Amino acid sequence: MSKNKIYIETYGCQMNFADTELVMGILKNQNYELTKEIDDANVILLNTCSIRDNAEQKIYARLEHLRGIKRRRNGTVVGILGCMAERLRKNLIEEKKIVDLVVGPDEYRRIPEFIDTAFAGEKGIGVKLSRTETYDDIIPYREDGLNAWISVMRGCDKFCTFCVVPFTRGRERSRSLNSIVNEIKQLSERGFREVTLLGQNVNSYSDNENDFADLLAAAAVVDRSIRVRFTTSHPQDLSDKLLYTIAEHPNICNYIHLPVQSGSNRILDLMNRTYTIEHYLNLIERARTIIPGVSFSTDIISGFPTETEEDHLMTLDVMKKVRYDGAYMFKYSPREGTKAFEMKDDITEEVKAKRLNDIIYLQHQISFEINQSQIGTEEIILAEGNSKKSDDFFAGRTDTNKIVVFPRDERINTGDYVKVKINRATSGTLFGEVRK
Ligand code: SAH
Ligand code: SF4
Ligand code: F3S
Repeated sequence: MSKNKIYIETYGCQMNFADTELVMGILKNQNYELTKEIDDANVILLNTCSIRDNAEQKIYARLEHLRGIKRRRNGTVVGILGCMAERLRKNLIEEKKIVDLVVGPDEYRRIPEFIDTAFAGEKGIGVKLSRTETYDDIIPYREDGLNAWISVMRGCDKFCTFCVVPFTRGRERSRSLNSIVNEIKQLSERGFREVTLLGQNVNSYSDNENDFADLLAAAAVVDRSIRVRFTTSHPQDLSDKLLYTIAEHPNICNYIHLPVQSGSNRILDLMNRTYTIEHYLNLIERARTIIPGVSFSTDIISGFPTETEEDHLMTLDVMKKVRYDGAYMFKYSPREGTKAFEMKDDITEEVKAKRLNDIIYLQHQISFEINQSQIGTEEIILAEGNSKKSDDFFAGRTDTNKIVVFPRDERINTGDYVKVKINRATSGTLFGEVRK
């Protein structure tokens, strides 16, 4: 048989995208060839997400499509990686006959072995979770670019009652500060201009000597021309030390993704989020005092079990108080195996949708107003490349993660920092002209 060529499709959060680079690193180390063309591949891997039912439905639809490919090209191997692999395990193979291998997030070192097994005509399953695996020694395979995602920790110990992540990713564990710093040094030499440190709850990063603030500070001094971003912060664990560290280093972005989920203390308690709205708002206050100009984004769930109209109004109220720059907004989706799954999913689809609409509408309005208020200001933008809509325009982002579009100019190259004066704004984008 001709040499194996592997194609990977990635779904879900940024940690999954980082994991795909890790898997590619593992495969490259063993001399496997990767391809970006599904038609050239004889191994097709889907790195999947289980966070909401619709994420899984998307994969089932994709598998139906792959069934056709497999029928036309005999001997094609199809594998499921990621959170669905971990959640559904051998059921995936039993129910979806076209799946040949199922590999969970802590067993990626064994993918080459499972691919061989699959070619030998047997199904391969590796879904053990580990308390220690961090893939610290593996260099992810990355193409050249400006931004690199770096997983600094794996797993989550928070057990929010709605969430599958603690079950699909296992217990929290962190990489060593040194290996992360070394990775950033290599990225700096390759011309990267931005790193985003990733974890489900980066605030609980610990390599036994250093906490997350130490890690951020160490990351920031590697190369002052590299912007350092991070996600996600849990409101219970965000320390003042971390806020001071962000304030102290000019290249740590003044932008915090701080999921609130709901504005009602009763619902937060049912969600096991372990903070109150008072604590949350106080934290936002402190962050704004310590880091002038800091901006926030959030995650919100509508229609959690027992959520009343009053609870919903409290969520809208928090949004008005904080005035987030942006938000990721979802309808509650019951996940088997979680605590909330045992509660009755008693909010109808119509009510969930209506509340979600209220939330989206309000956020849209707030984002629009915040962006309007930026008109006339000057921002330092990292030029990332052509804008989506036109090659005559460049696009980049501000320190606070807002997209800015400005006319192309010969003097500006991808990766440059440029000063742009904002002269127009929508709820999603700022427009301006170069001041350099
Ligand atoms: N660790 C991060 C991200 C978790 S997943 C955090 O703690 O915020 C991203 C978001 O998906 C969550 O913040 C939550 O808003 C949403 N989410 C998770 N499980 C969900 C579910 N069962 N239904 C709807 N939204 C969910
Ligand atoms: Fe899920 Fe909560 Fe962990 Fe985030 S903190 S991954 S929402 S359990
Ligand atoms: Fe999805 Fe797993 Fe990420 S469930 S959101 S891919 S951790």
